[in-house]
Amino acid sequence: MYPEVIIHNSVSLDHAVRGFEVDLGLHYGALLAFEPGAVLAGSATAKSGIELFMDITLPEAEADRHRPEMRPDDRRPLCVIVDSRGVLKNLLHFYRNMEHTKDVVILVSETTPEDYLDYLCERKYPFIRCGRSRVDLGAALRELGDRFGITRVVSDSGPDLNDVLIRERIADTISLIVHPVVVGEGEKKLFNKAGGRTALELRKAVTMEQGTVHLVYAVKK
Ligand SMILES: NC(=O)c1ccc[n+]([C@@H]2O[C@H](COP(=O)([O-])OP(=O)(O)OC[C@H]3O[C@@H](n4cnc5c(N)ncnc54)[C@H](OP(=O)(O)O)[C@@H]3O)[C@@H](O)[C@H]2O)c1
Repeated sequence: MYPEVIIHNSVSLDHAVRGFEVDLGLHYGALLAFEPGAVLAGSATAKSGIELFMDITLPEAEADRHRPEMRPDDRRPLCVIVDSRGVLKNLLHFYRNMEHTKDVVILVSETTPEDYLDYLCERKYPFIRCGRSRVDLGAALRELGDRFGITRVVSDSGPDLNDVLIRERIADTISLIVHPVVVGEGEKKLFNKAGGRTALELRKAVTMEQGTVHLVYAVKK
């Protein structure tokens, strides 16, 4: 089963994803309103989340090495992270301990270092392995649907991963919380590597707090 894929970003008017103050309440409120079965992040996003909001020196505790028990009535989404290079080795306990997600699933490729796979196996992090050097995102998302019953994924990632989701025609929806600021030069921008022309259909345009606007577009396929 192939899940619906929604790209969700807070952006400046010129499509930077950082270099301005993101309203995190609005960002995560709108994300959770999609009621995703999984939240997808790239490894750079996941690592920067630890660096920005947590104490990265906090070591793994003994309890962190064990997979939490799943309750069938737990409606929280899965946290799914693309990490073919093992960037998050020794850091995944930060995500295992997140309150708003129930489990962590890692997407890896055929060339992912063996020591990272050992780290995942020893701690029983479920992983999906597909694609030669990078993760084959289309196949990995299909397996996420088949193995975990996920029907909707929201990608809370930066330009690198989200542009691939557009370029490879995987994304069904683009959700942007546009903040009233032009960041200008120097910051990586969404859509710069999104491939050729992608036609969209406006589904929602709502003014929110502090001059932000929530835009939701369906991707025409
Ligand atoms: N404002 C917002 O809404 C928002 C949201 C999220 C993040 N951010 C910010 O965005 C920044 C990070 O963004 P980023 O663009 O550098 O990183 P990113 O979105 O985390 O993207 C990097 C990930 O994309 C994967 N990737 C790249 N090309 C691929 C391909 N062709 N096939 C498969 N996978 C591919 C990489 O895979 P590998 O595992 O192979 O390396 C890596 O896991 C951070 O500063 C973060 O704070 C902002």
